[in-house]
Amino acid sequence: MTAQSKLHSGFIASLARKYRVTSWFYDVLDYPWERQYRQWRPHLLKNVEGEVLEAGVGTGRNLKHYPTAAHVTGVDLSPEMLRVAKKRARKSACSVTLLQQDALHLSDLPSNHFDWYIATFLYCVLPDELQPRALEEMIRVLKPGGRFKLLEIVYSKEARLRRRQEFLAPLAEKLYGARFDRHTLEYLREKDQIKISRTRYLKADTYLFIEGRKKPS
Ligand SMILES: C[S@@+](CC[C@H](N)C(=O)[O-])C[C@H]1O[C@@H](n2cnc3c(N)ncnc32)[C@H](O)[C@@H]1O
Repeated sequence: MTAQSKLHSGFIASLARKYRVTSWFYDVLDYPWERQYRQWRPHLLKNVEGEVLEAGVGTGRNLKHYPTAAHVTGVDLSPEMLRVAKKRARKSACSVTLLQQDALHLSDLPSNHFDWYIATFLYCVLPDELQPRALEEMIRVLKPGGRFKLLEIVYSKEARLRRRQEFLAPLAEKLYGARFDRHTLEYLREKDQIKISRTRYLKADTYLFIEGRKKPS
């Protein structure tokens, strides 16, 4: 077993344990932030149609915001989070399929199949060393010309905001496995098969939204 695959299997096992517990109170705990996120989600998802893969679907907070013309495949490694997502899937306007899958190894999903790849607050959970692998899977499953949108939380450069984030960081890592010092944008820039079309912050310099597409082959 390589050091990379050891890290991977250790990460998956520890994250699955974490979310087995966190799933019980995830929505309650996240509520103060979700009040903000729920303003953004409909705008982020309003033009997302066709075959859509949502990686790290969690408790399914995005599901009700997809247009009717979307068929969403939502994957998550935590069966407990998926159980909550299932309830939300019943209320969504689009058709939804939920699968327990590792975003780093989407073994049940075909190559060149999806029009869209969506991930909100997934990459802040993935360790830096594993991010390139997750992005390779994203590229594999997207059709040539298929598009992606990622929303992540990162450390602010503003001292007061950064101090507040540093105060919350141990709790975010303990409960969600999330960190604010991931380098997702840098890993995306290293991938020749994709083009980043836009990056912008949704609030201060902390909520980083990244859009792009897989280059036509
Ligand atoms: C912080 S939550 C975000 C949930 C949801 N996307 C949202 O916007 O509310 C991160 C989710 O990613 C899932 N996750 C983390 N690593 C994963 C992986 N390698 N494969 C699939 N899901 C993963 C966790 O189980 C959790 O449900």
